[in-house]
Amino acid sequence: MKRIAVVGSINIDYFVESNKLPKFGETVMGNNFFMDLGGKGANQAVAVARLGGDVTLFGSIGNDEQRVLLINHFQNEKVGIDHLNVVEGVSTGAAFIQLFHSENRIIIVPGANEYTNANYSKKIKNQLLQYDVFLFQLEIPIETLEFLIPILHEHNKTIILDPAPAEKLDKDLLDQVTYLTPNEHEFATVLGHEEKISDTLIKYPNKVIVTCGEKGVVYHNGNKIVTIPARKVKAIDTTGAGDTFTGAFTVAVSKGKPLEECIQYGVYAASLSVMKKGAQAGMPFHDQLETVEG
Ligand code: ATP
Ligand code: RIB
Repeated sequence: MKRIAVVGSINIDYFVESNKLPKFGETVMGNNFFMDLGGKGANQAVAVARLGGDVTLFGSIGNDEQRVLLINHFQNEKVGIDHLNVVEGVSTGAAFIQLFHSENRIIIVPGANEYTNANYSKKIKNQLLQYDVFLFQLEIPIETLEFLIPILHEHNKTIILDPAPAEKLDKDLLDQVTYLTPNEHEFATVLGHEEKISDTLIKYPNKVIVTCGEKGVVYHNGNKIVTIPARKVKAIDTTGAGDTFTGAFTVAVSKGKPLEECIQYGVYAASLSVMKKGAQAGMPFHDQLETVEG
């Protein structure tokens, strides 16, 4: 099996659940508070590891009270952290997540994730070249992607970019990415288009894979637009569904499966993840995917 490197964010997620969202100046009563471990990089690394992938996470945390919790967690999850960047004097990244009827609104304070930067990239560059498949998101400084992706591309590595949170990306960077996995909202921002999704997908066959929540996933296979429908499940919390999709998709890619099978695997895993609260808390393990009927 190929080795997977995730270069990305690590957060502590603070969830607040309520039946009403406050307007500016208003206070409402919530009905639940809980914490989970999150950050798109960490989530995707955990999703990969739970599905049997060989994965190492490259990222940064603060030398704060969360450090031991996170290190123990990654070790338990079998996520490699040999190159974790522990930064003095800053807090670990935090995400404040309002949950409202299975949907979410998120504010992120990056903290130590800002240190997954060009300096860190230069330090990890030689280690990274020992990996085969790379997974990036956009919760770390863009300079990191701009430094690493051209080098990895030059070495013919497989590069998967989940462009979240969305920002418009440089065309050269996009050209060097093997697979791009935006959700339907991110899609327009990242690819900077005004057209229908299908008009843009045709320009990126077998490359741009758009997740569309409960509708599933849509992409162009070189001949036609293909939709892989999501499974019908009772959604409790969709936080981390995109991360589960991308993590599972990456595991299948690392095993050399055909693209459609990789997407189906991602959809299957993501549908299971929405049935539990929390980002990582709901991520499935390999044996669950084999035993749950489709
Ligand atoms: P998030 O940012 O919350 O992690 P996302 O917006 O990046 O998620 P979505 O497109 O909402 O990603 O979801 C990713 C995948 O998860 C979908 O393509 C689908 O396979 C699955 N999924 C999401 N919501 C549902 C749902 N309600 N029922 C079944 N599957 C779902
Ligand atoms: O994709 C979900 C993640 O986004 C959460 O875990 C939160 O940390 C934010 O980064």
